[in-house]
Amino acid sequence: MQMLALYSIKGGVGKTASAVNLAAQASLSGRRVLLWDLDPQAATTFYLRNKPRIRGGGVEKLVKGKATLEKTIRGTELDHLDLLPASPEARDMDMLLEGRKASRLRKMLKPVSNDYDLVILDCPPGLSTLSEQVFSSVDALLVPVVPTTLSMRTLTQLQQHLDGEHITTPLWPFFTLVDRRRNLHQESMTGFHEQWPARLSANIPYASAVEQMGVHQAPLTQFAPRTAAAVAYRNLWEEIAGRL
Ligand SMILES: Nc1ncnc2c1ncn2[C@@H]1O[C@H](COP(=O)(O)OP(=O)(O)O)[C@@H](O)[C@H]1O
Ligand SMILES: [Mg+2]
Repeated sequence: MQMLALYSIKGGVGKTASAVNLAAQASLSGRRVLLWDLDPQAATTFYLRNKPRIRGGGVEKLVKGKATLEKTIRGTELDHLDLLPASPEARDMDMLLEGRKASRLRKMLKPVSNDYDLVILDCPPGLSTLSEQVFSSVDALLVPVVPTTLSMRTLTQLQQHLDGEHITTPLWPFFTLVDRRRNLHQESMTGFHEQWPARLSANIPYASAVEQMGVHQAPLTQFAPRTAAAVAYRNLWEEIAGRL
């Protein structure tokens, strides 16, 4: 069971859109995928037409490893794709994880580790006890970056934070919300590869289809599979799959 996280210190950079679309692509490739919505705002849960609710004992039991995961995990309308929904009480998650050993998130999934090939985490923004657990649990951090100065600055801050804590989890940044007509975007993207050799080269364009995911409550594969954004997510997934 491999684990990836969509993570950034910043909000509004496309973590959730990317988590849902990459999970859909991965499930289409035949992998058994679990998408875990760690953000109490529950956008991923909403996109997959579920309700934010942790059945089988709530967040506390989940963290303690005593939840009935068969009840907590929900199916979705896509084959091979399941969802571990967010919960309004997910705000408590940070507190409950306090003082826990590293890789707790991975250990929480142990009872179902044979049922999934890939787990994708959709994370809330910010550095917290939860994010430290994410760093220690996953095989790589997928970091969406908008090609603007501030967004690229937070990527550097994240790398500095990981280096300072001696965390070796690889960072795989990629560009989202790319508008090639904007000079600033063009300029920000030049030289990125030299600075971030591990970056993923597929760029996700700014696209109204992505915004419409909220209307359709579905990943792009389900309602706009031939749009540029859907193709970009497929290319991004294939690049990621090649590294796993
Ligand atoms: N490629 C894109 N093109 C256009 N809008 C996007 C794109 N990616 C995300 N968005 C929109 O930007 C907003 C923030 O995206 P979201 O994925 O929720 O970010 P995060 O999870 O990092 O906070 C949402 O309204 C979403 O619909
Ligand atoms: Mg989000």
